[in-house]
Amino acid sequence: MKLNRLHPTFAFLVISSFALSFSVFASSDFDRGKKVDEEKCYSCHAKKTGFGNGDMIYTRKDSKVQSLSKLKTMVGMCNTELRLDLFPEDEVDVVAYLNKQFYKFNK
Ligand code: HEC
Repeated sequence: MKLNRLHPTFAFLVISSFALSFSVFASSDFDRGKKVDEEKCYSCHAKKTGFGNGDMIYTRKDSKVQSLSKLKTMVGMCNTELRLDLFPEDEVDVVAYLNKQFYKFNK
């Protein structure tokens, strides 16, 4: 066997396992939710709170969100009130992201 030629089956396996792990990573709720927050939510929250930081609305002391269901309601409210046009699965992902990153509710 020549060393400078990869066996096609081996090459296929390497490439496909790469593609698979990448797509799993890219489509995780957390990463997708983070992207939605950065693209659609962060700058307005940064402005509205006057903190200049779009994350701080989620950690403010007088948070309106005390449970996971309230978090869902609040995200839904920002989405519909402001006509952000999130798909339902974007909403689910952004809730997953916000809860994991900031709120940490168990239910
Ligand atoms: C155009 C401005 C604007 C955009 C865009 C926006 N929000 Fe908001 N959001 C607000 C304001 C203002 C409040 C504070 C509401 C209040 O205090 O009653 C808020 C509050 C929240 C809260 C409650 C924070 C807390 O702990 O008290 C959550 C959660 C939230 N927004 C999620 C989102 C998500 C997710 C998005 C993007 C998909 C988003 N918002 C986009 C203006 C916005």
